[in-house]
Amino acid sequence: MTISGKAANNLKALPRAVSWDNRALHLLDQRRLPQERLLIRCHGIEDVYEGIQKLAVRGAPAIGIAAAYGLLVGLFDNKLSLTALKEKLAERAEYLISSRPTAVNLPWAVNRMMTVASGEFADTEKLLARLEQEAIAIHQEDIKACHQIGDHGVSLVRQYPNVLTHCNAGSLAVSELGTALAPIYRAYEEGVKVHVFVDETRPLLQGARLTAFELQSVGVDCTLITDSMAAHMMALGAVDMVLVGADRVAVNGDVANKIGTLNIAILCGYFDIPFYVACPVSTIDAHTATGMDINIEQRNSVEVTHIMGEQVAPDGVNVANPAFDVTPANLIAGIITEKRLVLPPYDDNLKALLAVKSGL
Ligand code: MRU
Repeated sequence: MTISGKAANNLKALPRAVSWDNRALHLLDQRRLPQERLLIRCHGIEDVYEGIQKLAVRGAPAIGIAAAYGLLVGLFDNKLSLTALKEKLAERAEYLISSRPTAVNLPWAVNRMMTVASGEFADTEKLLARLEQEAIAIHQEDIKACHQIGDHGVSLVRQYPNVLTHCNAGSLAVSELGTALAPIYRAYEEGVKVHVFVDETRPLLQGARLTAFELQSVGVDCTLITDSMAAHMMALGAVDMVLVGADRVAVNGDVANKIGTLNIAILCGYFDIPFYVACPVSTIDAHTATGMDINIEQRNSVEVTHIMGEQVAPDGVNVANPAFDVTPANLIAGIITEKRLVLPPYDDNLKALLAVKSGL
């Protein structure tokens, strides 16, 4: 395989969801993409909460990174005592964690910051400097993890170059590159003729608006389909593999991801197509035994009754709007992490992976 310099250059142009410059947090407003690239400057903790809750920033690792920096927003010029600052941080931590319940990266990142905050510090300046260092470390580790996920998943894309993906698990959902999209970008860099079917992903169209935008801006060959077309494409033999991200992985290998993921996994079982998940180890929750224990976020009915602000359903109709579903472990061929590709049996293999991570 030849490494294509043009492809590598194109990857540098991938959009970034979160940036931290001179102690200022900026979020690329993903609700406006692809029409407009608008950066939101977070001035206070409410801006961070709203950015996460209303999906200006979304995707499990990206909301963890945004929350880690977000804890610190506006605190650098404070006149608080050390005790008062620690109390404020604890309040903020609880508040930010309550913004979205399903993606475990959010409490994971915030709790990691709070573990640092619980240490001994001579003054508030030293505490804040150490916390800033930790938020940057969370961000940098995610960048590295995305690249390693790319490395561990690229051979699958070489073998199965016609990939279907759901939602957006690309650069916009993480620090850069993506989780599910990282092996695709790596294969593209190598010159593999990869083609991606992009599910539009109702209700909020993360596939149509974000994944199609990312892939197209880099030059990866892709075809946008509505969610209901996936079975037809599979029946035609056009799909070799499905690759999606995750919001929380239970220790038994059950995976919570964007609503509609379960439909695709079931289709893969029917058509005998391998269904893979890609995520950093921080998305695997040692405290969640099975998918039944995952809190599924229920969102506003307007997201279903309206499309991009336009009402499409009759007034007053009953609506259900769960943002995620759970794919059972037995439908998943493998979970690509930064450490390695984890294969079934997940009960044993994920426990082994987490033990390595925590040094147990
Ligand atoms: O509601 P969203 O857009 O935050 O949902 C995002 C997903 O479901 C992604 O697939 C998941 O967070 C993985 S992102 C690398």
